[in-house]
Amino acid sequence: MARYNGVARALHWTIAVLIIGNLLGGFLHDALEPFVRIMPLHKAVGLTVLALSLVRAVWRLTSKAPPLPADMSRWETGAAHATHFAFYLLIIALPLTGWIVASAGKYPLSWFGLFDVPKLAVTRDDALYAIGHEGHELMGVMAAVLIALHVGAALRHHFVLKDNVLRRMA
Ligand code: HEM
Ligand code: HEM
Repeated sequence: MARYNGVARALHWTIAVLIIGNLLGGFLHDALEPFVRIMPLHKAVGLTVLALSLVRAVWRLTSKAPPLPADMSRWETGAAHATHFAFYLLIIALPLTGWIVASAGKYPLSWFGLFDVPKLAVTRDDALYAIGHEGHELMGVMAAVLIALHVGAALRHHFVLKDNVLRRMA
């Protein structure tokens, strides 16, 4: 059975866990505010996702993914490729817009308290800030929807079609 290699699998699952955590933290940060300040963690995790996603995009452009099962229809392979392409755009653009938003804020951008990440030259009056802010929220919703579709498809492959698609990323 052709599988994704170890680097691809490690990047896939690490980024998946961090993104799901950050979606929860992002959408719940207002509700959690009286109990914990989640944003410093959200920003550091998000910047980590950005760095890992750039490595992953380079990996993807320079290596070949294992072929999909031959009995998948054209709409199924088309849907898989479209979802995966959208994910690559999202896992880079989502943290990038977060970086833009946070750069216009008053807090320093610290990577888990270990070092400061430079802020981009953006203020709250810039159009880029407004676009980044709207984009960050919109792409957060898009990511949640795509993840639901993607997980649904993975489970369908495993339990309904009973092929090797989930195992080759496991
Ligand atoms: C894995 C990547 C990321 C995901 C999935 C993510 C997701 C989210 C979500 C869902 C929200 C709530 C949106 C809303 O309802 O308004 C949010 C808010 C926010 N995120 Fe992220 N984020 C990511 C990366 C980042 C990064 C890298 C930064 C900054 C360095 C950042 C800074 C912020 C800030 C400042 C807010 C609050 C915006 C506001 O309400 O003013 N995020 N994020
Ligand atoms: C939460 C964020 C997630 C993101 C951003 C994500 C992203 C991706 C991307 C971009 C690919 C294509 C890899 C490539 O060919 O370059 C992929 C493949 C895959 N993902 Fe995810 N994934 C996530 C979560 C999950 C989860 C939770 C599952 C399992 C339930 C899963 C199962 C799979 C499987 C089985 C493949 C292989 C599909 C194939 O070979 O075509 N993913 N994922």
